[in-house]
Amino acid sequence: MHSVSSTLATSVSIDLGSRSYSIAIGPGLIGQKATFAELPRASQALIVSNTAVAPLYAEQVRASLIPYYPRVHVLVLPDGEAFKTWETLQLIFDALLSHGCDRKTVLFALGGGVVGDMTGFAAASFMRGVPFVQIPTTLLAQVDSSVGGKTGINHPLGKNMVGAFYQPHRVICDLDTLQTLPSRELSAGLAEIIKYGPIADTAFLDWIEAHLTDLLARAPHALAHAVQRSCEIKAWVVAQDEREAGLRAILNFGHTFGHAIEAGMGYGEWLHGEAVGCGMVMAARLSAALGMVDLAFCERLVRLIAAAGLPVRAPVLDPLDNAGRYLALMRLDKKASAGAITFVLIDGPGRAVMREAPEVLVRSVIDSCCAF
Ligand code: NAD
Ligand code: GLY
Repeated sequence: MHSVSSTLATSVSIDLGSRSYSIAIGPGLIGQKATFAELPRASQALIVSNTAVAPLYAEQVRASLIPYYPRVHVLVLPDGEAFKTWETLQLIFDALLSHGCDRKTVLFALGGGVVGDMTGFAAASFMRGVPFVQIPTTLLAQVDSSVGGKTGINHPLGKNMVGAFYQPHRVICDLDTLQTLPSRELSAGLAEIIKYGPIADTAFLDWIEAHLTDLLARAPHALAHAVQRSCEIKAWVVAQDEREAGLRAILNFGHTFGHAIEAGMGYGEWLHGEAVGCGMVMAARLSAALGMVDLAFCERLVRLIAAAGLPVRAPVLDPLDNAGRYLALMRLDKKASAGAITFVLIDGPGRAVMREAPEVLVRSVIDSCCAF
């Protein structure tokens, strides 16, 4: 992992042998053709975006790509988590085939995590693999989903259940795009930034607390540091465990409870980052209940998550058997095995571990966290 800083422009590299790549972070990147100079060449490129992002940024990206690709197409998908489906994925293959794209065609994912995950999965499978570039335009996608090669779609029975590990050729985080992000989406991205503190870096947690006002005000220097440090931590974890044989699972802190919230409420009702924020509250409380972290650290985290504009009271998913519903949904988690749920828990500030927990304790944490 290396990083080179000059004012606000930074580059973080992710070391994965022949699949290594860099993450460019800075303002104004998508409007500069130099940003795209060192990518694989092809006769065609396809920018995949959605109805919210394409009108804002697709033309800038297209103009920057024209010097390198004779034909640049733009595909505009419907917007939202509810469209992270097989049917929408098919639209990407339809566009690739109807334009006569070949196995050199480069895909550019322009949007948040939904567009990034789907485009990455399309790139992994079209003609058994074509190059793709992530251009994340949400804070969440810049600090998490665009980095590390997890791609995929949802299944009605579970989130991100169909997908592939497939690394991009490059990640381009243009910080200026964050200025048009709705506030609720900014807070959702802050959840994934906060996540890196308790699992890996308490100094970063201190920094986030000290700069939360700047982050909420989208101050460019604060955003630049938050994106850079988050990408460094993620790159460090992924370089050691690309396919989540062990360590990488710590990046799922808050996600076991969070995925239950997302699925239980219906995809798109709670934003992914909101569900993760609330899920971190639940996972921290479970860690405290197991005596792994002190209550003061747990409450500090809850205060920060709330101050970031995220919900800290969990929703009731079933008034008749709420904890039972959470448990049933959490058994669908990819970390679950033979029906046993594995949680990412805090084992002291800055250190995460994977553990099962007694059901009675999990039930009591769910009850105490829910907004009855
Ligand atoms: P999203 O992709 O739905 O984007 C949020 C909203 O903001 C959308 O309406 C989008 O169109 C809009 N938007 C995006 N950029 C914008 C901009 N610059 N200005 C204005 N509007 C903009 O949601 P997300 O939070 O980016 O991503 C969530 C998804 O990411 C989930 O599906 C989650 O499972 C996935 N995810 C994947 C990984 C991974 O490692 N692959 C990690 C975390 C999350
Ligand atoms: N967002 C979790 C991971 O990339 O592993």
